Amino acid sequence: MIPVWPLLLLLSISSPIVDATTSSLKSKAVCSGHRVSIPLSSHIWLPLNHRHGPCSPLPSSEKKIPSTADLLRLDRLRTDSIRRHLNGDVTVPTTLGTSLGAAYQYTVTVGLGTPAVTQTVLFDTGSDVSWVQCRPCPVQRCHRQRDAVFDPARSATYSAFSCSSATCLRLGRAVANGCSGSQCQYIVKYGDGSNSTGTYSSDKLTLTPAHTVDGFRFGCSHANQFSYRTAGLIGLGGGALSLVTQTAEKAFSYCLPPTASHSGFFTLGVPHVSSSRFVVTPMHKIGNIATYYSVLLQGITVAGKQLDVPPSVFSAGSVMDSGTVLTQLPQTAYRALQAAFKKEMRMYPRVAPKNGLDTCFNVSGGDVKLPSVALVFDRGATVELDKSGIISKGCLAFASTGDDTSPGIIGNVQQRTFEVFYDVGGQAVGFRRAAC
Ligand SMILES: *[C@@H]1O[C@H](CO)[C@@H](O)[C@H](O)[C@H]1NC(C)=O
Ligand SMILES: *[C@@H]1O[C@H](CO)[C@@H](O)[C@H](O)[C@H]1NC(C)=O
Repeated sequence: MIPVWPLLLLLSISSPIVDATTSSLKSKAVCSGHRVSIPLSSHIWLPLNHRHGPCSPLPSSEKKIPSTADLLRLDRLRTDSIRRHLNGDVTVPTTLGTSLGAAYQYTVTVGLGTPAVTQTVLFDTGSDVSWVQCRPCPVQRCHRQRDAVFDPARSATYSAFSCSSATCLRLGRAVANGCSGSQCQYIVKYGDGSNSTGTYSSDKLTLTPAHTVDGFRFGCSHANQFSYRTAGLIGLGGGALSLVTQTAEKAFSYCLPPTASHSGFFTLGVPHVSSSRFVVTPMHKIGNIATYYSVLLQGITVAGKQLDVPPSVFSAGSVMDSGTVLTQLPQTAYRALQAAFKKEMRMYPRVAPKNGLDTCFNVSGGDVKLPSVALVFDRGATVELDKSGIISKGCLAFASTGDDTSPGIIGNVQQRTFEVFYDVGGQAVGFRRAAC
């Protein structure tokens, strides 16, 4: 059996090194591993790594970290697609509606088939269909990847769905892509016009040596346009085709690491720590798209003081998205945050906007003292952000949606270091601080 987690070898307990004065995206060239101890093997717990960082198993060509300005441009593409999708815009590809150029930042390594073949895949809470490249995958139609390309003919547990199977008939208009030699064909279309197509299939998914998902349903992709060297993508959305919906647990959590030089984690099922350590808020419904997980932000505090923003400003809700970098707030809330933050940061000289961020300070020269910033969600769930979730390269690391009526986005910069628990069965989202 091919080892499924080479990354566990990187385990080390090192001291936190969150440098808020420089980019929280910037990382040292070496992987510092995990900042927390790894739980007992009875839990489904996988290391999760920044795609571009030294902890990533991907080749070094993948490790160039895009500029903040590029990330923000890609953020806009992604979040515009999410919002158009939520609005029921039929011109947006209904399966995912997000741009592959967008910042899918994190990967996990799993095993697929029997014997298990190691596959490093992107991790996405904003989509449902999982897929990996499968042989035959001609170079003109597939992308190069680091792992061996999955070969269905060599897996003892692989099976393609037939066109008449209930699973194939239930794929839905957006994903169903006809029949080829009586095998069920799927398509996943992305917001930038690219797609993945192939045979809808099932096989054994190995998450940890002790935890496998038999009959995991995924797309065996024989053609796609994908610029990353990952083997494919794991969809963790709330829709019927996602990994989460396919498993009995109906719950998962992840912790996005503070820098690309650290590993975070992904767990399937209920977290291993006591539920009392999470602040919990109900999931909030936006539109009728099952894929996205949303919450209701109700207020923001800066240095312990609540911003004077009417709750109605937040009433469109916010999508939790691991693939968007910066949190996007309703315009009125963003302006209030900006004003309060400037006041608390008045001891630092203001500098010109940079990288698309408009509230920047000269914080060079030693220890920067940041005011505390907390997001307050429905039922009083108060999430006090980590330093790495407040500024990036000296600039306030938030953006505006541009109005007070569009849904906001809770992005991955603000989620870093929290264990974010999605209790899909119980329709709640929990946050546990300092988890990785
Ligand atoms: C899928 O992508 C390929 C390559 O870019 C393109 O030729 C094809 O038209 C796309 N198919 C659909 C249905 O979008
Ligand atoms: C920031 O302040 C330092 C001195 O503390 C100065 O040398 C540097 O030029 C300043 N940078 C900017 C961009 O103003």
